[in-house]
Amino acid sequence: MEQTSLLDVRDLTVGFESPYGLIQAVNGMSFTLKQGERIGIVGESGSGKSVTAHAITGLQPSNARVSGEARLDGIDLLRISKREMRRVRGGRIGMVFQNPLHCLNPAMKIGAQIEEAVLAHTGADKNEARQRVLELMDQVGIPSPSRSAQEFPHHFSGGMRQRVMIAIALACKPQIVIADEPTTALDVTIQAQIIDLLAETCETYGAAVILITHDLGILAGFAERIVVMYAGRVAEQGEVDSIYYQPAHPYTLGLLQSVTRIDEARRDRLVPIAGNPPSPVLLPSGCVFHPRCPYAQTVCREQAPPLERVGGFDHMAACHFADEIVAQRTGNNAP
Ligand SMILES: Nc1ncnc2c1ncn2[C@@H]1O[C@H](COP(=O)(O)OP(=O)(O)O)[C@@H](O)[C@H]1O
Ligand SMILES: [Mg+2]
Repeated sequence: MEQTSLLDVRDLTVGFESPYGLIQAVNGMSFTLKQGERIGIVGESGSGKSVTAHAITGLQPSNARVSGEARLDGIDLLRISKREMRRVRGGRIGMVFQNPLHCLNPAMKIGAQIEEAVLAHTGADKNEARQRVLELMDQVGIPSPSRSAQEFPHHFSGGMRQRVMIAIALACKPQIVIADEPTTALDVTIQAQIIDLLAETCETYGAAVILITHDLGILAGFAERIVVMYAGRVAEQGEVDSIYYQPAHPYTLGLLQSVTRIDEARRDRLVPIAGNPPSPVLLPSGCVFHPRCPYAQTVCREQAPPLERVGGFDHMAACHFADEIVAQRTGNNAP
């Protein structure tokens, strides 16, 4: 039985007004998130991942022009007031960003910052809030919570600061946590700990997670579904196994070849995708990926491929040759 979706993003389009005209950063992006589900949004730098997250949470700059829908429990987040949005953010949606130092107040003790989040979005009184802070700090694995609460952010390591951000995101018991490249600034060993922590704590709280990353590798043990973005569009989306074992879009194939997979240590096969993503002011004709695509034919230069179902349940790809690519690779699982 299919659950109804918690968040339903439809045809999200985001452009930025500039002296050179409209910069189309996101173009017709659609995806859904079910209650308690963990999805990953992956794509190279500049593919529109952060712009998507910002548009959904009302954090876009004033020169942004946003259209489409983003329904959370039926309420269109793109059409509510700034004031209502502030209540949603930190209330029903918790956020974790790449650089916690940009989000934490350097002059305020860790405990007080988490407490502020608890007080702002729950009905807790001072005493209850103190208790909640210690509980949250313990849940996110910060050692000796009562002592650590008295520290300032600069006393903490990058990993510990990210744990603080997760505590703040969870303070309001959100329905959704959006984590935008939460581990990009961290050492590899710490990265895995933070991703595991995010999965564990969000599960405890029953929160759904959108994990945004440029690294398909870190989604392997985390995401149930993956949305692959290219040039502001969905290139492919599906359950994690479809994406890893039956990729249907040449861009996904390229991403898979450029990460180390946990189940295969053949580093000699790491091949980055040739070329660079297009600039949003100069998008290629037809399929936006065609200039970098080893499978490109004339039709790809002329017609944009629609996002269409391939094979398994919920598996969609925007490629004229998706079925051929899947068929060709059947029985040959290693990309
Ligand atoms: N405020 C802005 N004004 C103009 N262009 C922007 C703005 N913010 C982002 N962009 C452009 O939108 C595209 C997508 O950016 P972004 O969503 O940050 O990518 P990423 O997938 O790396 O998070 C990029 O080409 C970026 O330069
Ligand atoms: Mg980004």
